[in-house]
Amino acid sequence: MSSEEESSQTSSPSSPSSPPPPPLPPCSPPPASHFVGRKEDIVKAGRLTKLVNGCRDVLVLHHQGQLHAMDTRCYHSGGPLQSGDIEEFNGMLCIVCPWHKYKITLAGGEGLYQAVDDPTARPLRTHWRSKGVKQRIHKVTEVNGDLYVTLNESSEAIESDVYQTESYRIGLFKTKPQPRSKT
Ligand code: FES
Repeated sequence: MSSEEESSQTSSPSSPSSPPPPPLPPCSPPPASHFVGRKEDIVKAGRLTKLVNGCRDVLVLHHQGQLHAMDTRCYHSGGPLQSGDIEEFNGMLCIVCPWHKYKITLAGGEGLYQAVDDPTARPLRTHWRSKGVKQRIHKVTEVNGDLYVTLNESSEAIESDVYQTESYRIGLFKTKPQPRSKT
């Protein structure tokens, strides 16, 4: 191998000794994204709700320097997640629905439940486990201080889809929590 070849291999970006540079921030909104507000306003408010693309009510959250977006109404019975607290369970940040206290992870929209390993053991030992993805999560992108939401249009049905109809939209601030058994 010539010294020129050696030198070009050493400086190759795929060399294990030189980590790849961090990705550049986007300079234009991604395709099919929708403007939802200025980042500074959402940071100040902590959260906002927006009807995106005329068809989907989305909650945008700013928490611990991260932005998240998800369907506004809870998958369980349509509760207003914009009024939920954010808490950590097993290291997973969740929004806690104000109606029946279901926990939904900010990162993936998973519902959490408390599992018991051995129901005969005293004291009982419980663990937070996932029920799977229940709340539709959307993508937030910042471009020059503007925030855009790209709707998650996966064709796979997600339980929170049920609460995206016009009737639920109109009743968003009027409805009271309905008794419903846990799932
Ligand atoms: S509506 Fe959210 S926990 Fe029941």
